[in-house]
Amino acid sequence: MRRAVILGTGAYLPQRVMENADFEKMLETNHQWIVERTGIERRHIAAEGELTSDLATQAGKQALENAEVSPDDIDLVIVATTTPDDTMPATAVKVQHKLGMMRGAAFDVNAACSGFVYAMTVANSFIVSGQAKRVLVIGAETYSRILDWTDRTTCILFGDGAAALVLEAQEQPGTSNDRGILFAGIHSDGQYTHLLNTTGGVSSTMTAGKLYMAGKEIFRHAVIKMPEAVEEGMRALGLPASAVDWLVPHQANMRILNGVAQKLHVSEDKVISTVAGHANTSAASIPLALHAGSRDGRIKKGQLLACPALGAGLTWGCFIARW
Ligand code: UT7
Repeated sequence: MRRAVILGTGAYLPQRVMENADFEKMLETNHQWIVERTGIERRHIAAEGELTSDLATQAGKQALENAEVSPDDIDLVIVATTTPDDTMPATAVKVQHKLGMMRGAAFDVNAACSGFVYAMTVANSFIVSGQAKRVLVIGAETYSRILDWTDRTTCILFGDGAAALVLEAQEQPGTSNDRGILFAGIHSDGQYTHLLNTTGGVSSTMTAGKLYMAGKEIFRHAVIKMPEAVEEGMRALGLPASAVDWLVPHQANMRILNGVAQKLHVSEDKVISTVAGHANTSAASIPLALHAGSRDGRIKKGQLLACPALGAGLTWGCFIARW
């Protein structure tokens, strides 16, 4: 059967690094609290004038190089983002142009912190159905632009960044030993919009608004729904959770990552985490972690990866792929 195989990854982080200690000058907080409660040590912040499409283009370019694929070999660009350059057009269309692509299609997906799982699910459908041969999937965010920098309960948690994967249609035997995406499942429940949102938007206030989060409640949902999403996928594949070589969850908080691993009885040394260095980069966090894990040699060809996420909506889901 046709599978969406991961050919290469790329990543881009803005140059400016903001340390936890930098917040001590602005807010009543400290490095120790942030590290103990979140595992976050620092984050990257986009420069003035540096846009989500700029971050996405850099990450996309590197993914194409690593995949040894030219821009014109790509049929579809999907950018998962909640922080687009503009209300329209889609950031993906700007990325398509900046990459020098003269063909194909491009659109954005907005599922907040679950954005990359949603985008991979859509990309997988395009590939399995035969509608696209190669898809560039990018997660790119500039959350620094929608943070309330006076709210210590949220602004310390997020960072900017982008990362990308190139997917290619390849014929595989059709078993759980195949390479590529083996499962992709997404969920949402709109009764929880009030737990994580922006204080405005195009139609409601004609502004982008600032991020609001009921952290404790979101935490609780994350440690229940992310393991469930992995279990759903592993059940569909007829495999036990112990078959997972690497758990690569959305990177919101180290305590959430450890909680998810614990529930799945996956040991913490099988969790790939970049939260210390990047903080929560929303839709960019899973591909940033995949890129880090593959470039440093931890993730090897043939290994099984489970990538769950939960974000505003609520939205949640998981994709499972063999590298
Ligand atoms: O990507 C999906 C979206 N995001 C997430 O998944 C994040 C989910 N939530 C979390 O990660 C955690 O709930 C937080 C990191 C946001 C908060 O951690 P917590 O352990 O749930 O702390 P808390 O909200 O119970 O706050 C404990 C105390 C409070 O003080 P009091 O009421 O006990 O006096 C807070 O006011 O810590 C205080 N606090 C801070 N202190 C120093 C909250 N933020 C800070 C801060 N520095 N930055």
